[in-house]
Amino acid sequence: MGSAELDEFVERVAERTDIYSVVSRYVQLTQKSGRYWGRCPFHNEKTASFSVSADKGLFYCFGCGAGGNVFKFLSLIENITYFEAVKLQAQRLGIDLPAKKSSPEEDRRRREEKTLLKINEFAQDFYHECLIKTARGEVGRKYLTARGITAETIENFKIGYAPEEWENLLPKLTRQGFSPGQLETVGLIAKRKNSPGYYDRFRNRIMIPIADIFGHVVGFGGRVLGSEDDTTPKYLNTPETVLFNKRNLLFGLDKSNRAISTAGAAVVVEGYMDAISLFSAGIKNVVATLGTAFTPEHVKLILRYARKIIFCYDSDEAGQRATIRALPIVQAAGAEVFVITIPDGKDPDEFVRKHGKEEFDALIKNAEPLIDYRMNYVLARADLSMIRGKSQALQEIFPVIEKIDKTSTRNEYLKKIASAFFMDERDVVGAWKKFSSRPAQENTREPAKKFVAKAKTSDKNALRLSTACEDVLRMAWHESDTLGYTLTMVPREFFSEVHREIIAWLETCAEQERRPDKMSAAKELTEAANAELSRILMNGSDSPRNTEVNIFEDSVKILRRAMLNEKYYALLAQAEKYMQSDKATYAKKVEESFKIKKEIDKLQG
Ligand code: GTP
Ligand code: MN
Repeated sequence: MGSAELDEFVERVAERTDIYSVVSRYVQLTQKSGRYWGRCPFHNEKTASFSVSADKGLFYCFGCGAGGNVFKFLSLIENITYFEAVKLQAQRLGIDLPAKKSSPEEDRRRREEKTLLKINEFAQDFYHECLIKTARGEVGRKYLTARGITAETIENFKIGYAPEEWENLLPKLTRQGFSPGQLETVGLIAKRKNSPGYYDRFRNRIMIPIADIFGHVVGFGGRVLGSEDDTTPKYLNTPETVLFNKRNLLFGLDKSNRAISTAGAAVVVEGYMDAISLFSAGIKNVVATLGTAFTPEHVKLILRYARKIIFCYDSDEAGQRATIRALPIVQAAGAEVFVITIPDGKDPDEFVRKHGKEEFDALIKNAEPLIDYRMNYVLARADLSMIRGKSQALQEIFPVIEKIDKTSTRNEYLKKIASAFFMDERDVVGAWKKFSSRPAQENTREPAKKFVAKAKTSDKNALRLSTACEDVLRMAWHESDTLGYTLTMVPREFFSEVHREIIAWLETCAEQERRPDKMSAAKELTEAANAELSRILMNGSDSPRNTEVNIFEDSVKILRRAMLNEKYYALLAQAEKYMQSDKATYAKKVEESFKIKKEIDKLQG
């Protein structure tokens, strides 16, 4: 889209948009003295300080200062970029995006993607028909009935059955005009090992279609019939394909997103069957991961619809460990996190079938806040008979306590800990004071402080950044070749002054083809740079091992992301300035920022 077209498009959408009707989808508004008022969706409040002026087309919260036009509102509440908000609103109004002047290559790619989606849809229908209509599907029907899955659920999720044959889907789909290559691309067939040709990947399995949030089928989960005692894996999933990426997909979200919006919360389960079972029982705000860990991408998907995420993993040790691992990811993304531990039966599926919807609703209502869950998790596994066990357990819990902003809440938890640990409250508070003063010291380290000022990020972020800086500099000391790469990813200006001096010196050493050593460092660097270099080298091993190479790559990524973020926000700020006065520049800035956002998102993966 050219910038003039973009302009015209944004204007057209804005013209037809009524801010009141957009906002009232999310916030209950009442009219008072020429404005609408409601409780701010962007911060917690009891009284209404969030206002909407329909004539001006603006919103503003007197409580938290959030404000702007309708697209700003949408981007905040849907957790999307400004331009995505424009597009979303256009979609809701039924306004077409201006036709893109796309390259032939892009056209080809889009056509191919459409074809691949069509193949999956054909496959879904084929498996589904096979299950409900054919004699071969009988085994599948029996299995599902025995599990209490109704015909209605089978229809709703388009569950299917892949027959026990090596070549069945393959000839059917090639007859429809799709090529074996295309079928292989979506993971439905695989090449034979010892002879030419292909075979169906899914055989004698219950087929569960997996869709993206628009409802396009992008892959399948195939479950063996019966129990998992033999050697075949219980589930065979579509392999990673251009359409199917487990990090970015949540099973069921295409069906549950409205319910998630309405409930203000999403229930996250581990298994397809759990999601299907809960949904059918009437718990409709449910999604499942696809047998992988919970990722930041998953959080983002959910945050589009609700701020609250309720984990409900299996109650066995593996499920609990998976929960514990997921929590920091979700917390870091700013979601409100709760955890349900299934009291009876191994998983949500079993529980809801045994006890019904009402009792599951009660579990949701009584879900434990993240902190309580983590505290109890540590508690259940700590050896509290020994003083050492207690102090270890405290060290595990304190990082969680640290995240609580309110002092009064924090004190309450310290009290809770004391009583749970059979400790004197003063001892717990004493240990806490010692713990909480420690990271503060780390944060005052000189380079970290520089970064706070520079990147305008939180202390914890700053610490991560300064550690990343140290990692790449340490690597450059050991392997001077890496410096060039680092600097192409992260421009020199991004480093602190002291670090820039170290970098320049390492470059000089490389030019003169001499290995940097501590003696010449002491002679040639300023005192500050030399001290900093020593500190950095002290934190690593004497030679870069494999693990350090991994750390190095991660660190470069962290720095690049921070650098791009800084750029991104600068561009947005510039764009905002031009919004009224210079539409062309505005569009250009938005487009530039969009590109950067894309790269940031890619780095996230
Ligand atoms: P049921 O056992 O039929 O109730 O299925 P479930 O969906 O409840 O599965 P379970 O809780 O055992 O496992 C959770 C999820 O992990 C599944 O939904 C799959 O996504 C994944 N998973 C389980 N077993 C396998 C396996 O053998 N291979 C693969 N690739 N994924 C699996
Ligand atoms: Mn299960």
